[in-house]
Amino acid sequence: MAFFKKTTAADNGSLPEVLPTHIGFIMDGNGRWAKKRGLPRSLGHVEGGKNFKRIMQYCKDIGIPYISFYVFSTENWKRPKEEIDGILAIMREYLDEVQKHLGDGVRAIFLGDKSVYPEDIRTKMIKLEEDTAHHRQLTVLLATNYGGRDEIARSARLIAEKVQKGELSVDDISEQTVADHLYTAGMPDVDLVIRPSGELRLSNYLIWQCAYAEYYFTDIMWPDFSPDELNKALIDFAGRGRRFGGV
Ligand code: IPE
Ligand code: IPE
Ligand code: MG
Repeated sequence: MAFFKKTTAADNGSLPEVLPTHIGFIMDGNGRWAKKRGLPRSLGHVEGGKNFKRIMQYCKDIGIPYISFYVFSTENWKRPKEEIDGILAIMREYLDEVQKHLGDGVRAIFLGDKSVYPEDIRTKMIKLEEDTAHHRQLTVLLATNYGGRDEIARSARLIAEKVQKGELSVDDISEQTVADHLYTAGMPDVDLVIRPSGELRLSNYLIWQCAYAEYYFTDIMWPDFSPDELNKALIDFAGRGRRFGGV
Protein backbone atom coordinates (compact mmCIF):
# COMPACT_ATOMS: atom_id res chain seq x y z
CA MET A 1 0.00 0.00 0.00
CA ALA A 2 2.63 2.45 -1.04
CA PHE A 3 0.23 4.70 -2.94
CA PHE A 4 -3.37 5.65 -2.88
CA LYS A 5 -5.53 7.59 -5.28
CA LYS A 6 -6.42 11.05 -4.08
CA THR A 7 -9.99 11.61 -3.04
CA THR A 8 -12.28 14.34 -4.36
CA ALA A 9 -11.54 16.18 -1.11
CA ALA A 10 -7.95 16.38 -2.28
CA ASP A 11 -8.97 17.69 -5.65
CA ASN A 12 -7.86 21.29 -5.28
CA GLY A 13 -6.36 21.42 -8.76
CA SER A 14 -2.71 21.67 -7.74
CA LEU A 15 -2.25 18.13 -6.47
CA PRO A 16 -1.05 15.11 -8.45
CA GLU A 17 -3.15 11.96 -8.90
CA VAL A 18 -0.84 9.82 -6.79
CA LEU A 19 -0.11 10.84 -3.22
CA PRO A 20 2.08 9.17 -0.59
CA THR A 21 0.41 7.02 2.07
CA HIS A 22 2.91 8.07 4.75
CA ILE A 23 4.76 11.39 4.80
CA GLY A 24 7.50 11.89 7.39
CA PHE A 25 8.33 15.48 8.35
CA ILE A 26 11.68 16.35 9.90
CA MET A 27 10.72 19.68 11.44
CA ASP A 28 14.14 21.32 11.28
CA GLY A 29 15.28 24.94 11.17
CA ASN A 30 13.29 26.52 14.01
CA GLY A 31 16.43 27.90 15.65
CA ARG A 32 17.83 29.41 12.45
CA TRP A 33 14.42 30.85 11.57
CA ALA A 34 14.49 32.75 14.87
CA LYS A 35 18.16 33.74 14.61
CA LYS A 36 17.64 35.31 11.18
CA ARG A 37 15.02 37.55 12.78
CA GLY A 38 17.08 38.39 15.86
CA LEU A 39 14.69 36.39 18.05
CA PRO A 40 15.45 33.77 20.75
CA ARG A 41 15.50 30.12 19.59
CA SER A 42 12.52 29.42 21.84
CA LEU A 43 10.34 31.65 19.62
CA GLY A 44 11.45 29.60 16.63
CA HIS A 45 10.03 26.53 18.37
CA VAL A 46 6.77 28.38 19.04
CA GLU A 47 6.47 29.23 15.32
CA GLY A 48 7.49 25.68 14.42
CA GLY A 49 4.65 24.43 16.62
CA LYS A 50 2.14 26.64 14.81
CA ASN A 51 3.34 25.27 11.49
CA PHE A 52 3.03 21.72 12.79
CA LYS A 53 -0.70 22.41 13.31
CA ARG A 54 -1.07 24.05 9.89
CA ILE A 55 0.63 21.19 8.00
CA MET A 56 -1.24 18.53 9.99
CA GLN A 57 -4.56 20.19 9.15
CA TYR A 58 -3.62 20.46 5.48
CA CYS A 59 -2.65 16.77 5.29
CA LYS A 60 -6.00 15.91 6.86
CA ASP A 61 -7.81 18.11 4.32
CA ILE A 62 -6.13 16.52 1.30
CA GLY A 63 -6.65 13.00 2.63
CA ILE A 64 -3.16 11.75 3.50
CA PRO A 65 -3.76 8.76 5.82
CA TYR A 66 -0.45 8.66 7.76
CA ILE A 67 1.90 11.47 8.72
CA SER A 68 4.79 11.44 11.12
CA PHE A 69 6.65 14.33 12.71
CA TYR A 70 10.13 14.42 14.23
CA VAL A 71 9.38 16.43 17.36
CA PHE A 72 12.37 15.67 19.62
CA SER A 73 15.21 13.21 19.13
CA THR A 74 17.09 11.07 21.64
CA GLU A 75 20.09 13.27 20.74
CA ASN A 76 18.28 16.57 21.38
CA TRP A 77 18.72 16.10 25.18
CA LYS A 78 22.25 17.46 24.55
CA ARG A 79 20.76 20.94 24.13
CA PRO A 80 20.81 23.60 26.88
CA LYS A 81 18.28 22.97 29.68
CA GLU A 82 16.54 26.26 28.96
CA GLU A 83 15.82 25.24 25.35
CA ILE A 84 14.62 21.76 26.41
CA ASP A 85 12.32 23.28 29.03
CA GLY A 86 10.88 25.60 26.37
CA ILE A 87 10.17 22.65 24.06
CA LEU A 88 8.54 20.68 26.91
CA ALA A 89 6.33 23.71 27.70
CA ILE A 90 5.15 23.81 24.06
CA MET A 91 4.46 20.06 24.16
CA ARG A 92 2.34 20.54 27.31
CA GLU A 93 0.28 23.24 25.63
CA TYR A 94 -0.25 21.20 22.46
CA LEU A 95 -1.18 18.06 24.38
CA ASP A 96 -4.04 20.06 25.89
CA GLU A 97 -5.41 21.47 22.68
CA VAL A 98 -4.35 19.35 19.71
CA GLN A 99 -7.34 17.01 19.90
CA LYS A 100 -9.82 19.88 19.88
CA HIS A 101 -7.93 21.58 17.07
CA LEU A 102 -8.03 18.55 14.80
CA GLY A 103 -11.54 17.37 15.51
CA ASP A 104 -12.74 13.85 14.82
CA GLY A 105 -11.00 11.25 12.78
CA VAL A 106 -7.43 11.79 13.96
CA ARG A 107 -5.48 9.15 15.85
CA ALA A 108 -2.30 10.21 17.68
CA ILE A 109 0.51 7.77 18.49
CA PHE A 110 3.81 8.65 20.16
CA LEU A 111 6.99 6.98 18.95
CA GLY A 112 9.66 6.87 21.64
CA ASP A 113 10.14 6.08 25.30
CA LYS A 114 7.63 8.12 27.31
CA SER A 115 9.11 7.17 30.69
CA VAL A 116 11.61 10.05 30.56
CA TYR A 117 8.96 12.80 30.73
CA PRO A 118 7.55 14.57 33.77
CA GLU A 119 4.47 12.74 35.09
CA ASP A 120 1.94 15.31 33.79
CA ILE A 121 3.25 15.14 30.21
CA ARG A 122 3.40 11.34 30.23
CA THR A 123 -0.18 11.11 31.51
CA LYS A 124 -1.41 13.53 28.83
CA MET A 125 0.38 11.57 26.10
CA ILE A 126 -1.21 8.30 27.20
CA LYS A 127 -4.65 9.93 27.49
CA LEU A 128 -4.38 11.43 23.98
CA GLU A 129 -3.43 8.02 22.56
CA GLU A 130 -6.31 6.33 24.37
CA ASP A 131 -8.89 8.98 23.47
CA THR A 132 -8.02 8.87 19.77
CA ALA A 133 -7.26 5.15 19.39
CA HIS A 134 -10.49 4.42 17.49
CA HIS A 135 -9.98 7.12 14.83
CA ARG A 136 -8.77 6.13 11.37
CA GLN A 137 -9.10 9.06 8.94
CA LEU A 138 -5.60 10.33 9.72
CA THR A 139 -2.94 8.74 11.90
CA VAL A 140 -0.37 11.17 13.29
CA LEU A 141 2.84 9.61 14.57
CA LEU A 142 4.73 11.89 16.92
CA ALA A 143 8.40 11.01 17.31
CA THR A 144 9.28 12.43 20.71
CA ASN A 145 12.38 11.26 22.59
CA TYR A 146 12.75 9.17 19.44
CA GLY A 147 15.87 7.72 17.85
CA GLY A 148 15.94 5.13 15.06
CA ARG A 149 18.88 3.23 16.52
CA ASP A 150 17.31 3.29 19.97
CA GLU A 151 14.10 1.90 18.47
CA ILE A 152 15.89 -0.96 16.69
CA ALA A 153 17.88 -1.83 19.85
CA ARG A 154 14.59 -1.89 21.79
CA SER A 155 13.05 -4.20 19.19
CA ALA A 156 16.06 -6.53 19.58
CA ARG A 157 15.60 -6.56 23.37
CA LEU A 158 11.88 -7.34 23.11
CA ILE A 159 12.58 -10.18 20.66
CA ALA A 160 15.40 -11.56 22.86
CA GLU A 161 13.02 -11.62 25.84
CA LYS A 162 10.55 -13.71 23.85
CA VAL A 163 13.30 -16.11 22.79
CA GLN A 164 14.45 -16.39 26.40
CA LYS A 165 10.91 -17.22 27.54
CA GLY A 166 10.61 -19.84 24.78
CA GLU A 167 7.83 -17.90 23.02
CA LEU A 168 9.83 -17.48 19.82
CA SER A 169 12.55 -19.51 18.12
CA VAL A 170 15.70 -17.87 16.74
CA ASP A 171 15.03 -19.32 13.29
CA ASP A 172 11.67 -17.56 13.16
CA ILE A 173 13.15 -14.05 13.52
CA SER A 174 12.48 -12.30 10.21
CA GLU A 175 12.40 -8.70 8.98
CA GLN A 176 8.71 -8.75 9.87
CA THR A 177 9.55 -9.80 13.45
CA VAL A 178 11.85 -6.80 13.84
CA ALA A 179 9.20 -4.47 12.32
CA ASP A 180 6.53 -5.89 14.63
CA HIS A 181 8.57 -4.85 17.68
CA LEU A 182 9.23 -1.27 16.58
CA TYR A 183 7.15 1.65 17.90
CA THR A 184 5.57 1.76 14.42
CA ALA A 185 4.32 -1.86 14.49
CA GLY A 186 1.36 -2.17 12.12
CA MET A 187 2.00 1.22 10.43
CA PRO A 188 3.04 1.58 6.79
CA ASP A 189 6.66 2.48 5.96
CA VAL A 190 7.47 6.07 5.08
CA ASP A 191 6.93 6.89 1.38
CA LEU A 192 8.19 10.47 1.42
CA VAL A 193 10.53 12.16 3.89
CA ILE A 194 10.49 15.94 3.85
CA ARG A 195 13.32 17.84 5.52
CA PRO A 196 13.38 21.62 5.41
CA SER A 197 16.30 23.79 6.64
CA GLY A 198 18.89 22.78 4.05
CA GLU A 199 20.32 19.81 5.95
CA LEU A 200 20.69 16.68 3.82
CA ARG A 201 20.44 13.93 6.41
CA LEU A 202 18.02 11.74 8.35
CA SER A 203 19.45 12.48 11.81
CA ASN A 204 18.34 9.06 13.11
CA TYR A 205 14.71 9.50 11.97
CA LEU A 206 12.74 6.27 11.28
CA ILE A 207 15.84 4.69 9.76
CA TRP A 208 14.24 1.24 9.42
CA GLN A 209 10.94 2.60 8.03
CA CYS A 210 12.67 4.90 5.51
CA ALA A 211 14.60 2.09 3.81
CA TYR A 212 12.75 2.73 0.53
CA ALA A 213 11.43 6.23 1.15
CA GLU A 214 11.82 9.07 -1.34
CA TYR A 215 13.56 12.18 0.01
CA TYR A 216 12.65 15.83 -0.48
CA PHE A 217 14.94 18.55 0.82
CA THR A 218 14.41 22.30 0.77
CA ASP A 219 16.33 25.29 2.15
CA ILE A 220 13.15 26.78 3.62
CA MET A 221 13.07 26.71 7.43
CA TRP A 222 10.31 24.62 9.06
CA PRO A 223 8.21 27.57 10.37
CA ASP A 224 7.97 28.82 6.74
CA PHE A 225 7.24 25.41 5.18
CA SER A 226 3.73 26.13 3.85
CA PRO A 227 1.02 23.96 2.28
CA ASP A 228 2.14 25.37 -1.10
CA GLU A 229 5.64 24.08 -0.43
CA LEU A 230 4.15 20.72 0.51
CA ASN A 231 2.28 20.68 -2.82
CA LYS A 232 5.64 21.14 -4.59
CA ALA A 233 7.04 18.16 -2.70
CA LEU A 234 3.98 16.07 -3.58
CA ILE A 235 4.31 16.93 -7.29
CA ASP A 236 7.99 16.01 -7.15
CA PHE A 237 7.16 12.73 -5.39
CA ALA A 238 4.54 11.81 -8.00
CA GLY A 239 7.22 12.03 -10.71
CA ARG A 240 9.66 9.64 -9.01
CA GLY A 241 10.16 6.13 -10.37
CA ARG A 242 10.02 3.79 -7.39
CA ARG A 243 11.35 0.33 -8.15
CA PHE A 244 11.96 -1.23 -4.71
CA GLY A 245 14.83 -3.18 -6.22
CA GLY A 246 12.83 -4.41 -9.19
CA VAL A 247 13.11 -3.28 -12.81
C1 IPE B 1 14.18 21.58 15.01
O1 IPE B 1 14.71 22.85 14.88
C2 IPE B 1 13.45 21.39 16.31
C3 IPE B 1 14.08 20.45 17.24
C4 IPE B 1 15.16 19.79 17.03
C5 IPE B 1 13.43 20.27 18.53
P1 IPE B 1 16.17 23.18 15.43
O2 IPE B 1 16.07 23.64 16.83
O3 IPE B 1 17.09 22.04 15.21
O4 IPE B 1 16.56 24.39 14.49
P2 IPE B 1 18.01 24.68 13.90
O5 IPE B 1 18.44 23.46 13.15
O6 IPE B 1 18.90 24.97 15.06
O7 IPE B 1 17.81 25.84 13.00
C1 IPE C 1 16.47 16.57 13.89
O1 IPE C 1 16.96 17.86 13.86
C2 IPE C 1 15.54 16.38 15.05
C3 IPE C 1 14.27 17.08 14.95
C4 IPE C 1 13.87 17.82 13.95
C5 IPE C 1 13.38 16.91 16.08
P1 IPE C 1 18.36 18.23 14.54
O2 IPE C 1 18.49 19.69 14.39
O3 IPE C 1 18.43 17.68 15.91
O4 IPE C 1 19.38 17.44 13.62
P2 IPE C 1 20.95 17.66 13.40
O5 IPE C 1 21.59 17.77 14.75
O6 IPE C 1 21.11 18.93 12.60
O7 IPE C 1 21.40 16.46 12.63
MG1 MG D 1 18.29 21.51 13.67
